[in-house]
Amino acid sequence: MKTHVAIVGAGPAGLLLGHLLRAEGIECVVVERQTGDYVLGRIRAGVLEAITVNLMERLGLDARLKAEGLVEEGFNLADGERLIRIDVANLTGQTVTVYGQTEVTRDLMDAAPERGLPVLYGAGDVALHEIESDAPYLTFTHEGRQERLDARFIVGCDGFHGPSRKAIPARVAREYERVYPFGWLGILADVPPCNHELIYANHERGFALASMRSHVRSRYYVDVPLTEKIEDWSDERIWDELAIRLGPDAAAQMTRGPSIEKSIAPLRSYVFEPMRHGSLLLCGDAAHIVPPTGAKGLNLAASDVHYAAQALTGFFKAGDADAIAGYAAKALARVWKSERFSWSLTKLMHRFPDDGPFERAMQVAELDYIATSRAAQTSIAENYVGLPV
Ligand code: FAD
Ligand code: DHB
Repeated sequence: MKTHVAIVGAGPAGLLLGHLLRAEGIECVVVERQTGDYVLGRIRAGVLEAITVNLMERLGLDARLKAEGLVEEGFNLADGERLIRIDVANLTGQTVTVYGQTEVTRDLMDAAPERGLPVLYGAGDVALHEIESDAPYLTFTHEGRQERLDARFIVGCDGFHGPSRKAIPARVAREYERVYPFGWLGILADVPPCNHELIYANHERGFALASMRSHVRSRYYVDVPLTEKIEDWSDERIWDELAIRLGPDAAAQMTRGPSIEKSIAPLRSYVFEPMRHGSLLLCGDAAHIVPPTGAKGLNLAASDVHYAAQALTGFFKAGDADAIAGYAAKALARVWKSERFSWSLTKLMHRFPDDGPFERAMQVAELDYIATSRAAQTSIAENYVGLPV
């Protein structure tokens, strides 16, 4: 098989990139290890920045997002009894949209056949070759056959554990990492949300987040030590913990119900440089991870894809090789700012095991400052809605 761009991974990054390239008439093939159902079964992000919504709109794939997505004009930071509302719409003139990653992926997946975007699900042993040349290729197994896919470029959209990043030689690689001493235990349930806007809470027992997927489906999180096992968290125990950490007002509005999904995700900050080497570009979690506080992971994947699509379009439509050379620097500038925001909101809203009274006093002082300063609120709001691309 031969194509212009071979894309590894059919998560949101890989599918979005595939659609953007097809919209420009550029040939590409997406190769995914899992089945489509497996990809849709992963419950992950829920909050979309305007740039992610705009990409779906540009592709004409935003009908369900516009009909079912919940437009959010603000969100809340809770600290004990205090609730600080960040009036995002007023402070920035922009909003975010609650629409699950699963739904974005489903919309992109459903439209692939009609847009001529081949997605090969269930591909085994995907390996990258000759990435330092102008003729890289993938090998993999598919439907019992050994396949080879030749391309001009490979784009690694295969998440944190995929093979693409590992194909870049160690001599040019640089990694930055911070692992946090807790994970987020998430619960999804078909109950109405306790509040129409998200609440991020810093409680003495730990962090909690009240989020949602619709008016009848809620998503909540609490942070737990990494040693915790999901089997030890009955639904009842999670609801009890949420009621304490979110505080009495939210607890009074919280409807409990059986979990549809629950899991623990570790928190990590990670950046890999460079995001391009030879004929290989990296997008999304393949190149970087943010802790989930602030909901940046999926949106950062979308902005990488925006830059990658621009670079590849420049190359194939205008013969502009500099566009490819400039990809990494453009993408990384935005990545580092999102890393900073996610890290600072994580530090502000979690109780770290090694923190003492001084660190707690710093949190209280920062929350006091945010509560009373329009400038501080604007800074948080403009990061939350997403920095410009
Ligand atoms: P992925 O969604 O990881 O997609 C990568 C794709 O590549 C997958 O389909 C995978 O199967 C495929 N792949 C992997 N290896 C191979 C291979 N060898 N060959 C072929 N294909 C391969 N972000 C938020 O903003 N809020 C959240 O609440 C949130 N929760 C999260 C919970 C978890 C457990 C995880 C892991 C992430 C979460 N994130 C969250 C982050 C967000 O979901 C990611 O940033 C987003 O999925 C990135 O999209 P992606 O397409 O880059 O990677
Ligand atoms: C959700 C996840 C996040 O990481 C976040 O910051 C806000 C919302 C969610 O899954 O709804």
